[in-house]
Amino acid sequence: MSKVISTAQTSEQPLIYHLRDVVKTREAEGVAFRLRIPSLQIAMGEKIALIGESGCGKSTLLDMLAFILQPSAVGAFRFRPERNGEPLDIQDYWKNGRLNELGDLRKRHIGYVMQTGGLLPYLTVRDNMNLCRSVLGLRPDGMVEHVAEELGITAHLGKLPDALSTGERQRVAIGRAVAHRPSIVIADEPTASLDPYAAEKVMSMFIGLAEEFNITVILASHAWRNIKQLGLRRLTHRTTCDADNKLTETMVSG
Ligand SMILES: Nc1ncnc2c1ncn2[C@@H]1O[C@H](COP(=O)(O)OP(=O)(O)OP(=O)(O)O)[C@@H](O)[C@H]1O
Ligand SMILES: [Mg+2]
Repeated sequence: MSKVISTAQTSEQPLIYHLRDVVKTREAEGVAFRLRIPSLQIAMGEKIALIGESGCGKSTLLDMLAFILQPSAVGAFRFRPERNGEPLDIQDYWKNGRLNELGDLRKRHIGYVMQTGGLLPYLTVRDNMNLCRSVLGLRPDGMVEHVAEELGITAHLGKLPDALSTGERQRVAIGRAVAHRPSIVIADEPTASLDPYAAEKVMSMFIGLAEEFNITVILASHAWRNIKQLGLRRLTHRTTCDADNKLTETMVSG
């Protein structure tokens, strides 16, 4: 049985994430980076963007939200993927080594668009898009075809990723993250390698799909102009460096 905690509801929509005093420290060769999150609350169905310069901690935050990186310290870290379910205490999973259960939560409820795309080169576009669905044992129900249609990649379903343009590959990666209808999609710079016009087009297809299936979105990007046009809520962050550049700290809240 999962340990459950009741959380006060602060808006009309229940909170999918509720973090308080979460810290992640990363260190290599005497240089350290610290991400501090005094408070972060994300309601179901919200579309959130973290915009910031390279190295400010965007991927670190997203990886913690996807349970890929374990926080160094936690005041509270609650995740409520289902409207009718109770909030889950994610710190309890980490603390007690319940990594398989964390993996199951991730598989079932989270779609992830990786910074590097992450398509499997030996699978067709259709099989790439089906990947999360097959892991969950979901039967074909037309969702992959529908998502491909919405993203304008129907003609490419039988191809290998190598035979696609960068923009097409990024659309496939978005399709793969959405096709199993997760509660939330986390996207790490999903349009980073596209020109501004193509980025705008792909981003609005992505947000349109998320709205159609009531998926919460958290994305990291450099592309503030597109993000603003799409009406996403922007997380605030502040990055500071100590005098000898040995410690960089980013504080995120929202
Ligand atoms: N495995 C690691 N070990 C130690 N430090 C790391 C590790 N990965 C990242 N860092 C450091 O953590 C900081 C934040 O990295 P992160 O990848 O979260 O930044 P980012 O905002 O996603 O950057 P980008 O826009 O370039 O993707 C950086 O200073 C980086 O050097
Ligand atoms: Mg990154």
